[in-house]
Amino acid sequence: MSDLPRPGVVERLSSTPSETEIDAWHAVVTAAHRHDMPAGVPGPGRVETAGQLRVPAARSRIVRLAVPAPGGDGDGYAGVALIRLFEDDVNRRTAWIGRLAVRPDQRRRGVGSLLWHEIRAVLERERRDSVSLELEIGSVGEQFAKERGFECGLQLVLYVQRIADEDGGEAGDEAGDEIGAPELPDGYRFVEWTGVVPAANAALFAGVRNAMADAPMGELDQQPMRWDAESITAAQRGFVERGGHLFTVTVAAPDGTYAALTEVGVRSPGDLRAQQYETAVAPAHRGLGLGRAVKLRMVQLLRAQETPVREICTHVADDNGPMRAVNKLLGYRPERSVGIFQAKVK
Ligand SMILES: CC(C)(COP(=O)(O)OP(=O)(O)OC[C@H]1O[C@@H](n2cnc3c(N)ncnc32)[C@H](O)[C@@H]1OP(=O)(O)O)[C@@H](O)C(=O)NCCC(=O)NCCS
Repeated sequence: MSDLPRPGVVERLSSTPSETEIDAWHAVVTAAHRHDMPAGVPGPGRVETAGQLRVPAARSRIVRLAVPAPGGDGDGYAGVALIRLFEDDVNRRTAWIGRLAVRPDQRRRGVGSLLWHEIRAVLERERRDSVSLELEIGSVGEQFAKERGFECGLQLVLYVQRIADEDGGEAGDEAGDEIGAPELPDGYRFVEWTGVVPAANAALFAGVRNAMADAPMGELDQQPMRWDAESITAAQRGFVERGGHLFTVTVAAPDGTYAALTEVGVRSPGDLRAQQYETAVAPAHRGLGLGRAVKLRMVQLLRAQETPVREICTHVADDNGPMRAVNKLLGYRPERSVGIFQAKVK
């Protein structure tokens, strides 16, 4: 029994974790990733882990929990958990588990249960009614979560678009055809930037970002955030402060407002796989091919930047027909199924 974690040994890391704490945390998440994820799915980089621990996501506080490994000093952590406590008005009663992972050699010893017990205590103290997290369908995590009252509230498929070959040459779509150049209707034009949105574009960008409110959220309590110039600037700045590279393409309509956007992020410099974040077309401009155009322009932009990025991955809800159709045209292929699971706290 001596090598089992003792009850009550969950540590809470400060908001400025040391390099040693970040290394120990990163060792857990990378070992879990190698053990649990299909080969070929790139794991998180160290910059991403450090950024996630040090810089909270938009309008949120984070709580970082760790269970020390039973070997004592210098042996790192047996398991870690990160809770995101939303602070925007619409999401103040819910929360997100950004990480809950146990080192493969420390599993089935109660570490996951210990972390979950502490997560619940935090959520109760913070008066949260529910909490959600993303899980691989068919994984051990899904089994663990279902036994703790989580239910799938939104089913998603993770798709990957190959944009460059191993040697950096341009990759085509599944049929081997070149992915193509974007076309815009008369009077529309691209406005794009890397990093944080320029001050002059922020209000227009926030306007079109609110069109995301239409994306299906399934049975989840979490609601899309509402953005203004200040909050959208802070969100993009947060991503950059976490050490990532961010690319944004928008389309300005003839009246000067923004009609469409797409955002892609590289969480650690050198990552081969970029993450697609929001893509949205404002309701008045749908049906004009702008969703396809912004994504094609993004591929051109990434190639022009000469980043090491080889592929872009995106999550799409099973019932989001229009987005799936756009992605199919662009050569995205399905990789695996995930779900957003939610549990009531009380
Ligand atoms: C899910 C995870 C956190 C569980 O950690 P753990 O420390 O092994 O969990 P515990 O020892 O507290 O297990 C508690 C119970 O969960 C269930 N469980 C855990 N692993 C299981 C497995 N491989 N198969 C079936 N049930 C399992 C069992 O009911 C277990 O109780 P038991 O050991 O008495 O039978 C861990 O497997 C992990 O890190 N997975 C990858 C990351 C992930 O999916 N995170 C999301 C979790 S919600």
